[in-house]
Amino acid sequence: MAKIINLNMANNNDTVIFGLENSWELAKNIGLSINKEIHPVTKVTFADGERLLSSEITTRNKSVYIICNTAKPVNDNIMELLIFIDSLKRASAKYITVVMTYYGYARQDRKAAGRQPISAKLIADLLETAGATKVIAIDLHNPSIQGFFNIPVDDLRGQFIFSAELRSRKENFVIVSPDHGGAVRARQLSELLDHGDEIAIIDKRRTGPNQSEIMGVLGNVKDKNVVIYDDIIDTGGTIIHAVKALKEQGAKKVIVAATHGLFSKGFDMFENDKDVDEVIVTDSVNHDHLKNYKKLKILSLAKFLGLVIEANINKTSITDVYYAYGQRHK
Ligand code: R5P
Repeated sequence: MAKIINLNMANNNDTVIFGLENSWELAKNIGLSINKEIHPVTKVTFADGERLLSSEITTRNKSVYIICNTAKPVNDNIMELLIFIDSLKRASAKYITVVMTYYGYARQDRKAAGRQPISAKLIADLLETAGATKVIAIDLHNPSIQGFFNIPVDDLRGQFIFSAELRSRKENFVIVSPDHGGAVRARQLSELLDHGDEIAIIDKRRTGPNQSEIMGVLGNVKDKNVVIYDDIIDTGGTIIHAVKALKEQGAKKVIVAATHGLFSKGFDMFENDKDVDEVIVTDSVNHDHLKNYKKLKILSLAKFLGLVIEANINKTSITDVYYAYGQRHK
């Protein structure tokens, strides 16, 4: 049985929530959903490009939340986040929880070839060294990244956001993973939609950085409406190849869904592709510049993250949040 969460409990003076510039819109909406003030961060950029970020209000002995993402420009955003965490640590914040809706460098999670770095681990080390005491992420590219940290990491499941949306459409979809690595994620989404045995997997091979080749489709998509579900759309190459392969196998409607829509090569390739019916992403990164595209639907994480932040403030379970969120959206 889901617990009723008391919104007023979140109005607690020991908590301060900041939104970094690149996540300000989402941060504002989270604040509205839990009736809590979101504070901006003062930022100075020096002539040589160095940054200085700091808080205008005291954080002494407080529990601080930073809503942020480290998408493009990845390196600047990471550095700004680290500098801000450092400023909070030196201002005597008691706890610093980084609500990192997109984790840049997550895809560099292992040595894929000799002499390569594991940058996802380096980022984890940097966050801890700066002073983070907890990380809340959503759909980390590889859930094992949680283990790169010696502090708690909540890797939230985006499937709850997508299942709420797809359920509301009253249609049947076959969920398709664009590669073998995403099969578990696709299966979980399919199970939340109550058609768990019907998934398909694209047999994809990486041929170089940001390049891939499709070898085939495992599963039956003929005459079905499909949702290709990935964690990240970066250049869009993986997904567009997958769309073509599914159409060749007789798929009817093709919806593309991904938690993190980076769209590094813009959105035109989707808008102008007759085989793509719709693209659904979350606001884990900012999409203000893409709002006029007709095929793009953006699902907000605000309510969900609001509930998660409340659960942290109120010391209650995140599992209950999943239930509560699911029930509110049935
Ligand atoms: C790869 O393993 C990820 O899950 C995504 O499929 C990939 O990062 C998407 O990149 P792109 O859009 O550049 O093909």
